[in-house]
Amino acid sequence: DGIGKSYAEELARRGFAIVLISRSQHKLDDVARSLGKVETKTIAVDFGKTNIYPSIEAGLSGLEIGVLVNNVGVSYPYPEYYLHIPDLDNFITNMINVNMTSVCQVILIHLSLQSKGVILNISSASGMYPVPLLTIYSATKAFVDFFSRGLQEEYRRQGIIIQSVLPFFVATKMTRIRKPTLDKPTPERYVAAELNTVGLQSQTNGYFPHAVMGWLTTKLVPIDIVIFFGARMNRLQRTGYLHRRKLREQKNGTGLKTD
Ligand SMILES: NC(=O)c1ccc[n+]([C@@H]2O[C@H](COP(=O)([O-])OP(=O)(O)OC[C@H]3O[C@@H](n4cnc5c(N)ncnc54)[C@H](OP(=O)(O)O)[C@@H]3O)[C@@H](O)[C@H]2O)c1
Repeated sequence: DGIGKSYAEELARRGFAIVLISRSQHKLDDVARSLGKVETKTIAVDFGKTNIYPSIEAGLSGLEIGVLVNNVGVSYPYPEYYLHIPDLDNFITNMINVNMTSVCQVILIHLSLQSKGVILNISSASGMYPVPLLTIYSATKAFVDFFSRGLQEEYRRQGIIIQSVLPFFVATKMTRIRKPTLDKPTPERYVAAELNTVGLQSQTNGYFPHAVMGWLTTKLVPIDIVIFFGARMNRLQRTGYLHRRKLREQKNGTGLKTD
């Protein structure tokens, strides 16, 4: 879905055969069909689990992978204080497995099968500085950014390109943004711009308006102010979300406790 689906579409358009890896076989089949004439293969796995890597390796072995896009990721359903996150224990495990372990393990498989190629790791602008009330997400994305940049330096001489991609908002299911704007583009628009930076930048916001936002928030504004306003924005979003949820529950007569 979202950004990953757009990478698949754009790379298919440029003539690549595509391997799609995600959770739901029916969605994988739909996307594979929508890619048209290019050769496709699908592997259905849940990245929340850690025992899936042998089946990914079996699915990829024998294939020449030119471009690996580590896109899978989960965020919060709404901004929340750490100890208030519902089912926190499982939430932590799932987010670490999906956002961090997947990147390390899939690259391990990739580098053991190929000696060249391009690896795009989808981090987030939330990984450029701490984002309160999305703290675990922001920390996992900072990990992806550091991991990518360190690994790029380790493997640069072998001709392997590893890029850390740090988007701001993109209009997808994750952000629930329905109306794309210049600063919140469609995933198609974002990915088309991002692919033009491959080989030129090892760390990128990927899309010109996001690069401007990245420059403003890291070079111009002191980090404490960025963190302060991030917290304020997320507190407001949290209040709005909990209020809407309460109204929905009252309407449905469920009246669950929301705080
Ligand atoms: N959208 C943004 O504004 C934004 C900004 C910065 C960074 N990012 C990053 O960009 C990446 C893509 O985000 P997106 O907005 O495109 O998200 P999305 O629309 O929610 O798509 C995420 C994809 O990951 C799959 N997925 C989720 N959990 C999975 C699991 N446990 N196992 C296997 N597949 C799983 C989803 O499959 P299902 O459809 O089956 O759930 C879906 O195909 C993420 O890493 C995200 O952190 C996004």
